[in-house]
Amino acid sequence: MTNSVIQPADIREVAVIGLGLMGSGIAELIVRSGRRVVAIEINQTFLDQGMARLRASLDKAVSRGKLTDAARDEILARIRPTDDIPAGVAGADLVIEAIPERMELKRTLFAQLDEACRADTILATNTSSLSITEIAGATRYPPRVAGLHFFNPAPVMKLVEVISTVLTSAETAETLTLLTRDLRKTPVQVSDRAGFIVNALLLPYLNHAVRLLETAQATREDIDKAAHVGLGLPMGPLTLLDLIGLDTSLAVLEVLQAEFGGTRYAPAPLLRKLCDARLFGRKSGRGFYDYRHSTPAAAADHDLAAAPLPAEVAVIREPDGLLDDLASDITAVGVSVVPQPSPETGLVIVAADPKHRVLDAALTVGHPADAIGIHFIDADDGKRGLAELVLPDVTAAGTAGKATALAARLGLAAVTSRDRPGFLTEALAYAQFNDAVRMFQDGYASPADIDTAMMLGCGYPRGPLQMLDDAGPAHVVSVLEAMHAATGDQAFTPVPLLAEYASAGSRFRS
Ligand code: CAA
Repeated sequence: MTNSVIQPADIREVAVIGLGLMGSGIAELIVRSGRRVVAIEINQTFLDQGMARLRASLDKAVSRGKLTDAARDEILARIRPTDDIPAGVAGADLVIEAIPERMELKRTLFAQLDEACRADTILATNTSSLSITEIAGATRYPPRVAGLHFFNPAPVMKLVEVISTVLTSAETAETLTLLTRDLRKTPVQVSDRAGFIVNALLLPYLNHAVRLLETAQATREDIDKAAHVGLGLPMGPLTLLDLIGLDTSLAVLEVLQAEFGGTRYAPAPLLRKLCDARLFGRKSGRGFYDYRHSTPAAAADHDLAAAPLPAEVAVIREPDGLLDDLASDITAVGVSVVPQPSPETGLVIVAADPKHRVLDAALTVGHPADAIGIHFIDADDGKRGLAELVLPDVTAAGTAGKATALAARLGLAAVTSRDRPGFLTEALAYAQFNDAVRMFQDGYASPADIDTAMMLGCGYPRGPLQMLDDAGPAHVVSVLEAMHAATGDQAFTPVPLLAEYASAGSRFRS
C-alpha cells in the first residue's frame, strides 16, 4: 500500500459481499455511481435473492420515471454476480462487507480477503456495532481496514459513518471520506466504539419504545404517533424497528449492553420474544405490525373516536392560561364548559405537566375517575402539533373514550398515555437527549456531528441536541429527574454535563 490517498476516481471496481437488505442497497448505490460492482453471496440461492431485490429497486425507479429502461440495463450490465469470493474480490479496489453480524464469520471472511485481494485494496465493513478493531485483527495489514456504515434504506439515507480503528491509516479514512462525498452522501468520521454515533443513540430509544409498549404505557400506534407527530420524526420507533429488522436491532443492543452496561441497552423482553418467534419485521412479514394484511389499527381508533361526546366538560384552567384556547374550542363544538366539576360533568380536563402526576391535580379538583390530563406538544410552526391525553390508572373505563371522541371532534391529533412522568413524547425524546449529551461528554463526537448524524442517518428534522436546546436544558433536566424518581431507573438521571448546562443556562448548539 502506498502512502498517498487513493482518489474516488481510482475506485472503479467495488466488491460488495453479502446481498441482504443493506448489501443490495449499497451495491445499487455504488453501481449507480458509474462504478463496476462485483456482487458476492455465499451460494446461488442468496445471490439470486439479492439480485432480485436489487433489480426490483431499479425497476421501481424506472416505474417512477427516475431511470430509463436503457439506463437500468446499462447499470445491471456493470454488476457481476458471483458466489466465488476469492475470484470476485481479486480485481476490486474496494471491498465492502455486509454479511450477518457475527464476529467469527467476519473474521474468517477478512482473513480470506487478506489473501485474495491486492495489497492496495481497501477493506471496509458495514457492521452496525461489532468491533472493527477485532475484525481488522484477522488481517495482516490492519491499516487498510475501516468501517463504512450505511443506513437503511441505503440508496436514500444521506449519512455514512466512516470509522477508523487505532490502526486504520489516515489515507484509508481519507479515501473512504472522499468516496462517500463522491457517492453524494455526507460522511461523519468517528473512532471505533460500539454503535458509533447513530446506533448508540437510536437503539436505546427504540428499546425504550418497546418497554413503553410492554408496560402498557400506550398502544403501538400511539407510541409511533407520539414520535412521528410529536417529534416530527419520519417514522415511529416500532415502525422503524420493523424496517431495520428486530433481529438486527437485538444484535446491536446486545453489543451496546456488553460495552456500556445499564438498563438503556438491556434488550426489552418483548423484543427478544418477537425474535424468538422469528417475527423480525417487514422482511419476515410480521414484527410489531403485520405486513401480510392491511392493518386493522385505523378501525380500532375509529371506534374510540365514535364514543358519544360528554354534555358538560370541566376545564380546570391554569393561571398561565394554558387551557383557555381549548375551553373556547370545546364550547365551539357545542359542549358546555364549566370551571369546576359538578355531578353532571362527564369529563374533567386538567393541564398535564410531564414533570408531575396528573393524578395529583385530579385529586385536588375531585372526580378523579372522570379526570384526564391534556398536554400539548407544539409543532414547529408554533401551532398545536399533538395532544397527549394522560390517564391516571384510577380513571374510569369510559373516560378515555369520551376524551378521544372530544379530541377527534376538535380535530386534534391525539395519543393516550398512562400517567407516568414524561408521558410519551418527552419520555422517549429526553432520554435520548441525555444519551446524546453523554456521548458529547465522553468526547466521542461533537454536538454538530451528533445532530448531523441523526438528521442524515435517521431523517430527524432537527438533531437531538438542537431539540434539547429548543426544549430548554433546565426543563429537560427536571423531566428526566421526575422520570428517574418515578422509575428508580438510573438511566434517566441527567448526565453531569446536561445538569451543568442547565444550571449555567448554556446551549449545546448556538
Ligand atoms: N430503496 C430505495 N428507495 C427508497 C426505499 C428503498 N428501500 N424506500 C423509500 N425509497 C425512496 C422512495 O422511492 C422515495 O423516492 P423519491 O422521493 O425519489 O420518490 C423516497 O425514498 C421517499 O419514500 P416514500 O415517499 O415512499 O416514503 P417516506 O417519505 O415515508 O420515506 C423513508 C421513507 C426514507 C424510509 C423515511 O420514512 C425515513 O427516513 N425513515 C427513517 C429511516 C431511518 O431511520 N433509517 C436508519 C435506520 S438505522 C440503520 O439503518 C442503521 C443500522 O445499522 C441498524
